[in-house]
Amino acid sequence: MSLTDYFIRKPEFEIVPLETDDLPQAAAIHQLRFASPWSDGELHSLLVQDTVFGFVARQSNAYARPLTGGFVLSRVAAGEAEILTIGVDPRFSRQGLGWRLMRAALREARDQAAEAVFLEVDETNVAAIGLYRKLGFVDVGKRRAYYQGAGGTRTAALVMRLDLG
Ligand SMILES: CC(C)(COP(=O)(O)OP(=O)(O)OC[C@H]1O[C@@H](n2cnc3c(N)ncnc32)[C@H](O)[C@@H]1OP(=O)(O)O)[C@@H](O)C(=O)NCCC(=O)NCCS
Repeated sequence: MSLTDYFIRKPEFEIVPLETDDLPQAAAIHQLRFASPWSDGELHSLLVQDTVFGFVARQSNAYARPLTGGFVLSRVAAGEAEILTIGVDPRFSRQGLGWRLMRAALREARDQAAEAVFLEVDETNVAAIGLYRKLGFVDVGKRRAYYQGAGGTRTAALVMRLDLG
């Protein structure tokens, strides 16, 4: 392995269960990607709940501290799952990490006997809506003026559902 390889090696990621040690990096990604980011402590108080689980894209070819490419957090209760949040580091956008994280969460939800998965997404969020539609989610409702944008503008939330049955 040459020095050049060391510096230009493209990160590869594996999707593994989210652990509390991952939360500082997960919070850093949330901060980059959301107008009202969740802190490390807020993510922690969710992840320790029995009904909540998550997955993280962790670099599998790191020499030192592995990079975190993205994460997803979900909850299953009473036969229904909810995607609480998902975020991918913008440096690794459009490389399939969002898709892989969602697939892992959907598989786990099914394993935990969920029959359907719900989520809410800003109707102007083209990337996320594209990802959810590609996974088979369909629109089931709309919550008007749900999100507040930077300039005070309000946008609606789409409620989407995927049947796991
Ligand atoms: C939404 C998000 C998680 C997608 O992650 P990603 O790793 O970039 O997405 P993927 O590479 O897995 O893309 C999977 C599919 O999603 C859709 N998609 C992703 N980014 C898109 C974009 N910018 N425009 C349109 N469709 C997009 C495409 O259908 C894509 O498949 P394709 O690449 O074969 O066309 C990422 O953009 C993100 O973190 N956004 C900010 C946080 C956020 O909005 N979270 C959702 C809140 S509800």
